Amino acid sequence: MPATFTKSALMLSLMLGLGQAHAAQTDVNALAAAHGIPHPAVIAHRGASFDAPESTAASYKLARDLGADYLEMDLQRSKDGVLFALHDNNLQRTTDVATKFPERKDSPATAFTMAELKTLDAGSWYNKAYPDRARPTYAGLKILTLDEIIDIAQANPKHKPGLYIETKEPQLFPGIEHDLKEKLHDRGWLSPAGSKLAKSELGVGQGKGKVILQTFEKNSLELLQKEMPQVPKILLLWVGEGSIEPKSKVTFSESGEKDKNVFYGKQEPKSEAEFKQWVDFAKAQGAIGTGPSAKLTKGGDQSYSDLVQPWMNQYTHDQGMLVHVYTVDEPVDFEKVMAAGVDGIFTNRASELLKFYKRPAAASVDQVLKNNGF
Ligand code: G3P
Ligand code: CA
Repeated sequence: MPATFTKSALMLSLMLGLGQAHAAQTDVNALAAAHGIPHPAVIAHRGASFDAPESTAASYKLARDLGADYLEMDLQRSKDGVLFALHDNNLQRTTDVATKFPERKDSPATAFTMAELKTLDAGSWYNKAYPDRARPTYAGLKILTLDEIIDIAQANPKHKPGLYIETKEPQLFPGIEHDLKEKLHDRGWLSPAGSKLAKSELGVGQGKGKVILQTFEKNSLELLQKEMPQVPKILLLWVGEGSIEPKSKVTFSESGEKDKNVFYGKQEPKSEAEFKQWVDFAKAQGAIGTGPSAKLTKGGDQSYSDLVQPWMNQYTHDQGMLVHVYTVDEPVDFEKVMAAGVDGIFTNRASELLKFYKRPAAASVDQVLKNNGF
């Protein structure tokens, strides 16, 4: 840490809401520590979702027991008001809804009660999609409620991950920010970290940064800030409709590209000022950082615009904010985004990222899955 900007000076500026550290003076380790967030952070995207069906008990238990810092989830709400984890707008890709509810297969998940959602098989699709990683025990896995994910996060006495919760398409779920606050409060996840627990080595789930809230939506960020001002928040960023305005107005269909992700990879912010304006908005609304997209070396359906260029990360750090990039799975890209200055990574491959950060899990993926009955 530079002698000119001590940790206590940074803490003081954060407490005063200043956060105007200079580029050369920002100490990102101290910044993360002030929020109780590991640096760099391992954020298990929909759990350890490379090795097990996303957002299920298998993927979250695996991520937890490998030692990930956070269990990431996309939050939705059932017809009868139960909060649960699902990424897509409907159930087709990751469940057998087309077999169980053929007339409603295209309906949003919010059109189903939790009892109906619990009849769905959220694991077999994975065995078909990834036969090389399939396990018979994945068949019949259930969609999980937020309560059940909290139970998983709390259940390993040796490692307690935090929760990294996204309000997914929040306009479809009016009041979900309030519902989330109630649930986290009821489960004791909004109480200030006890000093004894916060100092323990059990993991981020015991400390000040045990919950991070994330959203792509400006409006939801404002609502999250209103409901839970003390909880760290991240504004997710990408280039496209509803987020950062692109330089080119050419649409995907006009572009002639065959692969949507090649198209996305070529998108860039309209201007430097446009990028900065989004970071500034996030800060003004109380976010402690941003969650930008990355362009991946091998492409693929998680490769988007490169929003982790060094000047972008530097600007964000200059505002006293952290950068957690999504969603990176390969060592070549871990290397690249870390060199560009990010402070944590959303990954489907928690085991690989932990290895990269020289915090390898004590047991193999296979062993952890077996330990958990998979
Ligand atoms: O939440 C960060 C990252 O998960 C955003 O992308 O579409 O996977 O939710 P998505
Ligand atoms: Ca997400």
